[in-house]
Amino acid sequence: QTATASAAVPAPKHLPDAQTVTAVRHWNDRLFSFRVTRPQSLRFRSGEFVMIGLMGDNGKPLLRAYSIASPAWDEELEFYSIKVPDGPLTSKLQHIKPGDEIILRPKPVGTLVHDALLPGKRVWFLATGTGIAPFASLMREPETYEKFDEVVMMHTCRTVDELEYGRVLVESLKEDPLIGELVGDKLKYYPTTTREDFPRMGRITENLKSGKVFADLGIAPMSAKTDRAMVCGSLAFNKDVMEVLEGFGLREGANSEPKEYVVEKAFVGEGV
Ligand code: FAD
Ligand code: A2P
Repeated sequence: QTATASAAVPAPKHLPDAQTVTAVRHWNDRLFSFRVTRPQSLRFRSGEFVMIGLMGDNGKPLLRAYSIASPAWDEELEFYSIKVPDGPLTSKLQHIKPGDEIILRPKPVGTLVHDALLPGKRVWFLATGTGIAPFASLMREPETYEKFDEVVMMHTCRTVDELEYGRVLVESLKEDPLIGELVGDKLKYYPTTTREDFPRMGRITENLKSGKVFADLGIAPMSAKTDRAMVCGSLAFNKDVMEVLEGFGLREGANSEPKEYVVEKAFVGEGV
């Protein structure tokens, strides 16, 4: 083989289902986001997740579930990730750089999709920590604004720096040439912290139960007739929010049986 002949052949992909990293942004020492090329054949619904990862030291793919944080129309894929100290995947994944390859299994699944909700007037996106990832997709999804008059994004983290990815995303939406006009004034963003001073504080469950969020935003309380919700956080958070939502009369739905709310775990385990 001459150098000229081999240059005409595309470089072999080193990994199965390889995609190339195009951008990486570190938000703090615990969180980062990155973008990768999108497989041409990949179709997904905003809010779904896929398995991504790297090749493990044993030569086998080391894969984890990740919500796609970019909307279905985006030509690249975005992910928002925790850095778990000593985490098998994220202790390595946090070092990726543009040009590196990751593995991406192109089989999107998940319950945080519009198809799993009955029509309504207002939709609530309720997230803690990296649970905002599927809503980073859904907040950029035109269907969200076509289906609902009002969208409330409640995001709660322990500290202020953990809110930054969501804050920057929401800020950019109104200026977005593709989605800005659709978003208009429909999106209400309600970030809170629980362990560091911030203008708005408190757990999502408490702010819903006490009615503080309705009062702060000057909106009507939640009702099963008008409101729909999507939930993504730790197991404990999901369980407690479900109880609150059921208290307002909402019922859990699924892809096969759309109802008033849907839930997905942001991760498995007790958190870090
Ligand atoms: P693991 O061995 O997987 O996790 C070690 C421990 O770290 C866990 O037991 C848990 O206690 C804690 N942990 C793991 N992930 C998180 C997290 N996100 N937030 C707080 N604590 C955590 N992670 C993301 O960062 N972004 C996503 O968009 C995302 N989407 C997911 C969607 C689904 C449906 C599920 C089930 C999980 C998702 N995860 C997401 C978690 C992800 O699959 C991995 O657990 C995470 O990347 C850590 O991998 P690891 O191998 O380093 O550590
Ligand atoms: P808090 O600081 O009061 O525990 P974690 O990092 O533990 O997953 O928590 C992320 C955010 O979710 C924190 O602000 C935390 O509040 C909040 N949270 C944790 N568990 C629950 C729960 N069961 N109900 C409501 N909010 C929760």
